[in-house]
Amino acid sequence: MEIDPKHHTPEENYKLITGLIVPRPIAWITTLCDDGTINLAPFSAFNLMTHEPPMLMVSIGTREGQRKDTYSNILSRKEFVVNIASYEFMETVHASSAALPHGKSETELLQLETVPCTIIKTPRLKNVVAAMECRLRDRIQYDDADSAIFVGDILKYHVRDDLVRNAKIDTRELDPLARIGGPNYAGLGRFKTMPAAEVLMEKLTEKQTETGS
Ligand SMILES: Cc1cc2nc3c(=O)[nH]c(=O)nc-3n(C[C@H](O)[C@H](O)[C@H](O)COP(=O)(O)O)c2cc1C
Repeated sequence: MEIDPKHHTPEENYKLITGLIVPRPIAWITTLCDDGTINLAPFSAFNLMTHEPPMLMVSIGTREGQRKDTYSNILSRKEFVVNIASYEFMETVHASSAALPHGKSETELLQLETVPCTIIKTPRLKNVVAAMECRLRDRIQYDDADSAIFVGDILKYHVRDDLVRNAKIDTRELDPLARIGGPNYAGLGRFKTMPAAEVLMEKLTEKQTETGS
């Protein structure tokens, strides 16, 4: 089937793109509102950009034509925290996406403890597996796009001690929550470690030569 996005409504295109680009990691973002309230919301149009310097991106849209709180807060404070939620936080993550009246804090309502960050003023969630303090580097806003892309420099990683082994993250222990299409989530599935690509290439092409294909 061929599908031309130009002949689809924004809702249909949303369903297609969020159903095909899966699983997506979730940036559970804390920001500070102008009155000092802590805002929390999940964003799955999120990924790394570069590792040197460490940079990540998150795409944040509008709600009924208005900028989401996270959007406005990042723009005015130039900083945010990307908290990483493990699978067990699924319900809390989902609930934190509710549109609340201005001045109401998701962290307070959901009784999620926060702790100060070391470099930025925005607090991070205390009981998550990891959090990244970020400074806004850039906001990319295309004229014809509903969402803006926020690029953040990672200033500090906070990682639960037992997750780091030989400077690597133990992914099973991290147990990250992922978003798939619709109001659906996933955890980690099958794992397999590969040999070096060159070794595997040789093995697979050898097999082809043997079978004459
Ligand atoms: C798992 C999940 C992922 C989401 N990803 C995004 C996203 O990438 N971009 C976006 O604009 N909204 C996304 N949303 C919706 C926002 O979380 C929602 O609009 C929220 O109310 C924004 O809160 P705020 O106004 O406090 O910033 C997502 C919601 C969920 C549950």
